[in-house]
Amino acid sequence: MENEKKPYEHEIEIKGVTKSYEKKDGSFLALSEVNLNIDRNEFICVVGPSGCGKTTLLNIIAGLHHATTGTVKVRGEEVTGPGKGKGVVFQQYALYPWLTVEKNVEFGMKMKGIPKETRRETAKKYMHIVGLEKFAKSYPKELSGGMKQRVALARAYATNPEILLMDEPFGALDAQTRAQLQENLLNAWQQEKKTCFFITHDVEEAVLLSTKIIIMSASPGRIREVINVDLPYPRNQETKLTPEFNTLKNEIWNKVYKEYLQHAK
Ligand SMILES: Nc1ncnc2c1ncn2[C@@H]1O[C@H](COP(=O)(O)OP(=O)(O)OP(=O)(O)O)[C@@H](O)[C@H]1O
Ligand SMILES: [Mg+2]
Repeated sequence: MENEKKPYEHEIEIKGVTKSYEKKDGSFLALSEVNLNIDRNEFICVVGPSGCGKTTLLNIIAGLHHATTGTVKVRGEEVTGPGKGKGVVFQQYALYPWLTVEKNVEFGMKMKGIPKETRRETAKKYMHIVGLEKFAKSYPKELSGGMKQRVALARAYATNPEILLMDEPFGALDAQTRAQLQENLLNAWQQEKKTCFFITHDVEEAVLLSTKIIIMSASPGRIREVINVDLPYPRNQETKLTPEFNTLKNEIWNKVYKEYLQHAK
């Protein structure tokens, strides 16, 4: 399989994507000429000021919105709608309140017609990775925000998507829970390298998780710079203490922060 020639070059190919929104006072260019290739198993973090089009870009890759011009291809196929190969985790946990944790994690697999026995086993594996085995029979209302987000993560992984799209999934969490979830996500990714597209406002989070950071800038939204994060894996919270980590974090933080300041003028 590995040596077979693929009919496409990159896992995700974004070519000349622009997005205009029609507003009362005319059209607004939210994304301008975005070109980006993402390879299999890459963990991409996208940072940039509020309103620079990060969510817009994610929604276009997810097939939830259409680009005004340009194309997005996932594994060589043009994205025309939300397909099965894409798992999305939003900022606000979208769990089914009437289903237990276990049933929530199993839901996507059930929709795919995966047999009960396999569903159970797979759900168990991912609940273990995110540290929620003990809560398998609990309902979402009995969980904290961080725990709910861990269920969302386990569910996304359990459906075995080719790519994972995450829009500030840890944005609403406190620092400690956030660190725990970063660890969960790192563990999951280090075990099974899904291609990830992860939006965050947190430069430290971006450096910790990613193989590559995309810095976007606003008005109109575009890709300003792509930075390789060459820190070795496995990574964990202690990686944040290394000089290499801090050099990179400062470099990127300066770039993003300067952009914020320019934007605020
Ligand atoms: N449905 C819409 N109609 C009109 N304008 C929109 C719509 N959605 C987004 N926009 C505008 O497009 C721009 C990009 O929005 P988007 O949500 O992609 O930004 P973002 O980078 O995700 O911001 P944040 O960091 O605050 O989440 C913003 O200026 C926003 O006002
Ligand atoms: Mg957004």
